[in-house]
Amino acid sequence: MTDDSFQRTDNRFRNLSSVRGVPAPDPTAAPEPAPAPDLTTDFTADFTAPFDRSGTGSSKWARADSPGVVPMGLADMDLPGPPAIAEALRRRAGHRAYGYTACDPAGRQLVADWYRARHGAAVDPDWVLLLPCGPRTALRVLLETVRPQAPVLFPAPEWGGFAQLCRAARIGYRELPLPVGPDGYRLPDGPLPGPATAVLLSSPHNPSARVWSAEELRALAGRAAEAGALLVSDEVHGDLTHPGHVHPVAVTTVDPAHRHLAVTLNSVGKTFNCSGIPSSFALVPDPGLRARFADALAGYGLWEGGLLEQTVQEAALREGGPWLDTLLAHLSDARVRLTDRLGSAVRSAPQASYLLWLDAAALGLPPGAARRALLERCGLEASDGAEFGPGGQGSLRLNYALPNSVLDTVLARLERLDLG
Ligand SMILES: Cc1ncc(COP(=O)(O)O)c(C=O)c1O
Repeated sequence: MTDDSFQRTDNRFRNLSSVRGVPAPDPTAAPEPAPAPDLTTDFTADFTAPFDRSGTGSSKWARADSPGVVPMGLADMDLPGPPAIAEALRRRAGHRAYGYTACDPAGRQLVADWYRARHGAAVDPDWVLLLPCGPRTALRVLLETVRPQAPVLFPAPEWGGFAQLCRAARIGYRELPLPVGPDGYRLPDGPLPGPATAVLLSSPHNPSARVWSAEELRALAGRAAEAGALLVSDEVHGDLTHPGHVHPVAVTTVDPAHRHLAVTLNSVGKTFNCSGIPSSFALVPDPGLRARFADALAGYGLWEGGLLEQTVQEAALREGGPWLDTLLAHLSDARVRLTDRLGSAVRSAPQASYLLWLDAAALGLPPGAARRALLERCGLEASDGAEFGPGGQGSLRLNYALPNSVLDTVLARLERLDLG
C-alpha cells in the first residue's frame, strides 16, 4: 500500500465542518453520524469557503483517523473542480446512450492546443493517445509494452507508485538517490549506473514539488539515450506549476535526436481534481512505440476514447483555463504562507502543485514516528516519508490544497510545534 493508494475503509462520510474551530482531535470520540449527503450543490471557483466532501466517498477523508483531523495526506484537493466539468457531465448524462464510444480525434488537437497555450510547447496531435485509465495504469502498460530486459531506473524519493507498479508487474527496478543542491533536489548527473530499459521521472517532482530545469532534463534524457533507454516523464503535476516557474514538457524539451525515446504522461485528473474519473493522455512521438503501446492497452480493454474520459477531458481542456489560473494563484499564496511559517523545515523549495516535503526533526517531531506525532499534537494528517522510498525516511509530505478558512486552522495548529 503506497501513500497515494486507495485505502479500503468504511469511514467515508467525514464532514469538513468538524475541522473548523476544533482545537484538538479526540481519538476516543464516537464517530459523528453521517449527514445526509447533498451531491447537487453548485460550487463555483471559490477557494475561500470550506468545501464539504461529506457523502462523496473521498479516499483522502477516509484516511483521517478521527473527527477534527485535517486530512493532508493523499494527493487530491479539498477545493471544488471547474464548473465546466460538472456541466459537461450533467449534459452528457442527460442522453441515455451509454454504449461504447469512438475516440473523437478532435481531442488530440485539444491536447496540442492546451500545450501550446499553457506551456508554449509544440506538441504534434499525432503523438497523443487519449486514455480511459489513470496515469498509473498507463505507465504500467507502457512498461509492459517495452518488456524490460534491463532494470527500470528512477530517482528517489518518489511518489511511491513507481516502485509499487514495478513490483506488481514483476519489473526489475533500481532507485537513484536524488542529489541535494542549495535550494533542494537536483536530477542525478553522471552516467547511468548500468544498463536500463527506461528512466522514469516524476516531473514536477512528487513529493518535493520541485520543477526540474530544462537543462537537467535534457542532460538526463541524453544519458538515457546513450544507454538506449526510454525517458518516461510522469507530468501529472506539470499543469500545476506555480506562476514564475516554467515546466519543461519532456517530449518537446529533450534534444530532437532523442525525442523518439521520450514519452510524456499527463492527466486532467490531478490538474482539475477529477482523479475519481480515470483518464490520462500520453504524448508518444515515436510512431512504432505509439502503435505497440495502443495495442497493449487494447489488450486490457483500454481503447482510446472512453465516454467519461472524453467528456471530462474535453470540458477541462476547452474551458478549464480560467479556473486553473484562479487555482494557481490560490495555491501560490498558500505555499508562501506555509513556507514562511515552516522555514527551514521545508526540505526542497516547492515550485508546483500543493505538496510540501518536510524535515520531521526540524519540526521537533520524532523522525521515526513523525506522522503519528503530528496527528496527535496538531490534528493534521500527513503522508509518512518512508512511503516514498530511499531518502524519504524522517520526512513528511503535507498537501495544502485547502480552502483559506481551513488553511487558517492549519497555520494556527502548527503553532503547537517548536518551529523556532
Ligand atoms: C506523480 C504521480 N503520478 C501518478 C499518479 C497516479 O495517479 P492515478 O492513481 O490517478 O493513476 C500520482 C498520484 O498521486 C502522482 O502523484
